[in-house]
Amino acid sequence: MSESLSSLDVVVSLAKRRGFVYPACEIYGGFANAYSFGPYGVELRNNIKKLWWKMFVNDRSDIVGMDGPILLHSRLWEASGHTTGFNDAMVDCKKCKKRFRADHLVEEATGKDMEGDFPAMNEALRLIPCSSCGANDWTDARQFNMMFHTSMNGFSGDVFLRPETAGAIFVDFKNIVDSMRVRVPFGVAQIGKAFRNEIVAGNFIFRLREFEQMEIEYFIRPEEKWEELFEQWLVLQERFAVSLGASTDSIRRYEHPKEKLSHYSKKTIDIEYKFPFGFKELFGLACRGDFDLSSHAAASGVDLSFRDPETGQSYVPHVLEPTFGLDRSLLVTLCAAYHEEQLEKGSRIVMKFPFALAPVKVAVFPLLKNKPELVAKAREIFDMLKTSFVCEFDDNGNVGKRYRRQDEIGTPFCVTVDFDSFSDGAVTVRDRDTMVQERVSVSELSSYLSSRLG
Ligand code: GAP
Repeated sequence: MSESLSSLDVVVSLAKRRGFVYPACEIYGGFANAYSFGPYGVELRNNIKKLWWKMFVNDRSDIVGMDGPILLHSRLWEASGHTTGFNDAMVDCKKCKKRFRADHLVEEATGKDMEGDFPAMNEALRLIPCSSCGANDWTDARQFNMMFHTSMNGFSGDVFLRPETAGAIFVDFKNIVDSMRVRVPFGVAQIGKAFRNEIVAGNFIFRLREFEQMEIEYFIRPEEKWEELFEQWLVLQERFAVSLGASTDSIRRYEHPKEKLSHYSKKTIDIEYKFPFGFKELFGLACRGDFDLSSHAAASGVDLSFRDPETGQSYVPHVLEPTFGLDRSLLVTLCAAYHEEQLEKGSRIVMKFPFALAPVKVAVFPLLKNKPELVAKAREIFDMLKTSFVCEFDDNGNVGKRYRRQDEIGTPFCVTVDFDSFSDGAVTVRDRDTMVQERVSVSELSSYLSSRLG
């Protein structure tokens, strides 16, 4: 987390003020912890997705991409165990009717993780007052299934919005093996929306009911030394967190205790990030054995084994599952980038996004708005640069104010056209991080910016 960031509120406020993230349906009083991504938010999200896709799909010869549907057959969720097991513990305050995650309430009050142990949670709750009204009158903690239920014309069974993207990968395993020349070990990557009816959403975009995941199923031979690959994946996940701007001391690993793992899981580790509200899960990595493919094979009656064309050996691959949350990645990017700096005169807020992620790469200004020749020249330079970089033209207010605005958007370079530009054929380029300004000739501007932006 950036050292300038004292609380999440400053990021929430900047995100709204500068067009990154807005509370959804605000004109109707807001809607249940839902958010819209504004013009800069959507650029930033797309850049995070591009970075992830490049790192895990385009730059690798052993991973292919796919994009499955959100509405999937309910038999998939029966086979995966979501219909019966995708539950959280819910408890209501009988007095004020506020609803809570029982395990979270208990953990906050006692420091003990009692997830899944309902008698222990109910016992502990007897000593915990409601944080909303102070009463101590709880319903019993009970299981709540988090899948969103819907219905579909022409289909009589239950239909759910997918609670994770992974399921779509397993049900297309055979299609991918049959249509692509993949050889184990190989992975399938997917980015897309997932939906969970969280009992309590919150902490801005950290816990949402509609969110986006970036997931990989990495298929390996049953006898593969999975521990080595597991470690390699953890390192890659940490590297991705760093490429979002996270410092290495703001990330750590949390291994799920053996007794909390599902029967099929050999190991699960979360990569946690130090958000302003504490270390919390950012990404996850699990070794799931052959549970998923075997369950779908048994439930569908379709053979989901892989036949090695060289050895003729046939087996159901095991799987490592590195999973990444896009919204949490975005939150890390915003938190890590946020800096408040004292200047000789006054102060500034600057979003020091890694250049690859910055929503706007270059802003172009005419020094004065009311001088047509400056505006025309600046437009000409904007038109030249926009073919190579995401650019913004800005002639509002004085140049100092434009710099402050671009700092808050996180634009790495601002280019100003002034009267000297007509005589020296150069412009002033101002660096976001150092605020140093230098003259660069217009004929070399594109290559200068390319090399600076990397
Ligand atoms: N397929 C495995 C899986 O879904 P998960 O730990 O439940 O694992 C993976 O979710 C990632 O999705 C998390 O590490 C987190 O980044 C993100 N995520 C999960 N629930 C979320 C929520 N309610 N809001 C935002 N992101 C969420």
